[in-house]
Amino acid sequence: MKNLGILLSGRGSNFEAIADSVAAGRIRGAIAVVISNREEAPGIELARRRGLEARVIPSKGKPREQHDAEVVAALQEKKVDLVCLAGYMRLLSPWFVRQFPNRILNIHPSLLPAFPGLEAQKQALEYGAKVSGCTVHFVDEQLDHGAIILQKAVPVLDDDDEHSLAARILEQEHIAYTEAINIVLSGGFELMGRRLVRRATAKA
Ligand code: GAR
Repeated sequence: MKNLGILLSGRGSNFEAIADSVAAGRIRGAIAVVISNREEAPGIELARRRGLEARVIPSKGKPREQHDAEVVAALQEKKVDLVCLAGYMRLLSPWFVRQFPNRILNIHPSLLPAFPGLEAQKQALEYGAKVSGCTVHFVDEQLDHGAIILQKAVPVLDDDDEHSLAARILEQEHIAYTEAINIVLSGGFELMGRRLVRRATAKA
């Protein structure tokens, strides 16, 4: 059984989707720790209510290196195999990324490489994209950049605003994250440059 560590900064709906999948046996792993960099993140309270180990490691006013060292120490203490960023609104230092090579996942609400960074749904709408979606990818040293594990597309409708589009994407995010975690935990893939290619036997 692999240990998952969840990092979040806010609402925590992707965390909850992962926790539901773990509870239902759809992910063969355990959530060893949930860490927030913000005390007031609703996700941390949701984690506590589920009886999970939930820690706040405040980032405010701290150098990035110091905060990252505290977070990595907590993940190592809890013997985390796979780190899942679930609305964790901080860039990881290169040192952090090196502690978990190809073992950190992030979810982003656009079809990368389109619309990285903040307010991806608003960016897609303002750009006039007709299709958007979500991407689960390995984290590397650049923002919203590492090798793609999977993507799910949704249409952008004429009467969308950023809230309706975000809601349509979020529904797919909750499905995508569980699938991506299972791909990574299965180990049934190869990375050819940026391309994640699943081995024939690993395909469901
Ligand atoms: C999600 O839409 C996630 O894709 C996005 O933040 C939201 C967090 O929601 N992440 C990013 O934009 C990362 N660049 P949640 O707290 O309900 O999971």
